[in-house]
Amino acid sequence: MNVLMIGSGGREHALIKAIMKSPRLEKLYCAPGNGGISRDAQCVDIPVMDKEKMVAFARENDIDLAFVAPDDPLAAGMVDAFEAAGIRAFGPNAAAAIIEASKVFSKNLMKKYGIPTAKYEVFDSADAAIDYIKSGNMSPVVVKADGLALGKGVIIAQSIDEAEKAVRSIMEEKKFGDSGNRVVIEEFLTGPEVSVLSFTDGKTVKPMVSSKDHKRAYDGDKGLNTGGMGTISPNPYYTDELAAECMEKIFKPTVAAMAKEGRAFKGCLYFGLMMTPNGPKVIEYNARFGDPEAQVVLPRLKTDILDIIDAVIDERLDEIEIEWSDECSACVVMASGGYPESYKKGIEMFGLDNGGQVDGATVYHAGTRYENGKFYTNGGRVLGVTATGKTLDEALDKAYGAVAKISFEGAHYRRDIGRTK
Ligand code: AMP
Ligand code: GLY
Repeated sequence: MNVLMIGSGGREHALIKAIMKSPRLEKLYCAPGNGGISRDAQCVDIPVMDKEKMVAFARENDIDLAFVAPDDPLAAGMVDAFEAAGIRAFGPNAAAAIIEASKVFSKNLMKKYGIPTAKYEVFDSADAAIDYIKSGNMSPVVVKADGLALGKGVIIAQSIDEAEKAVRSIMEEKKFGDSGNRVVIEEFLTGPEVSVLSFTDGKTVKPMVSSKDHKRAYDGDKGLNTGGMGTISPNPYYTDELAAECMEKIFKPTVAAMAKEGRAFKGCLYFGLMMTPNGPKVIEYNARFGDPEAQVVLPRLKTDILDIIDAVIDERLDEIEIEWSDECSACVVMASGGYPESYKKGIEMFGLDNGGQVDGATVYHAGTRYENGKFYTNGGRVLGVTATGKTLDEALDKAYGAVAKISFEGAHYRRDIGRTK
């Protein structure tokens, strides 16, 4: 099979390494990719949102499978464009990707189908939203921009004052552009968070092994929210009992609800869950693999991922057995100094071999550039250094051992991945 991966981050690198294990793989391309990915696949310089160029490239290069990994092209109908051209593609079409692209849609879906989630109201006027928060004396309270906002459209306001500022910055100052035309005001929930990615063909849903993200920038869950500073798998808070409950109350009902709405979801559906004192609830859905969740989940996959992808596309996921290793895995993200706020790019990196790797771990590149045998930083999150082990401690020791071998000016990473609630 000739495969085209679309995207340029650590998640895409993890998907590429998983696909490379398949004996069915012939030629692997990535558009646009990054420095580390260029050591494993042929990078093609096409912007991630350029549907026409992507489809043309796929046609010219006999692509048998296009894998659309990021949220923006999914929401913009990249999979629809491949399908219209008769090219097999993995990922939801635009009608289904809305489950991530509009929080108003996903909240209303959950309400309509009785899927457990935080209580909420939707507003298209800032004053009405603020009145609602004040009259309910809601604090803390969660303010969410409706649309995609690079993972930054959620504000947890600790006071009514802060909530008012959040609403005005989203709706009036348009901090996240048109994403903030509507807001969701949501009840603040507590409990451990669990990420569960799943494969679904629109009818059957097969959850992958669980994982846990670490969203805050600094140790002790301090600092700003980021795209994710590290992950572990499995998630220690996700017991078999909770998994069974989530399957019946959340996973199956969601997939059935999307089909019923005429938006059958085919691809990877990500459930962001919170284990609250009142049971598991959905915090968010993503229409794609999580980043850096993919980096800890995929190394545990034993089944050929191309076989699973075929089963999803052909809607026969019920026929395939998906096997996982019992090992634990851990990913430590090395970020640029200053991230998630402003940071420098183009800083030379040390410690990586010519393949962008170090002994004892797998290094997924998120934001790097490769030039004349050297790697340079090229993004906020730079690397996801990942290892597996019989225990979580062993996986963490190996991952941190590998992190210690890598350096670049300003690098920062959390020292407490896998150690926090
Ligand atoms: P999201 O971008 O939807 O993943 O939200 C980012 C983070 O905000 C989540 O991972 C949670 O930690 C937090 N969050 C979102 N909604 C709630 C809520 N209703 N109660 C408490 N925390 C929340
Ligand atoms: N790590 C969370 C996400 O991919 O949205």
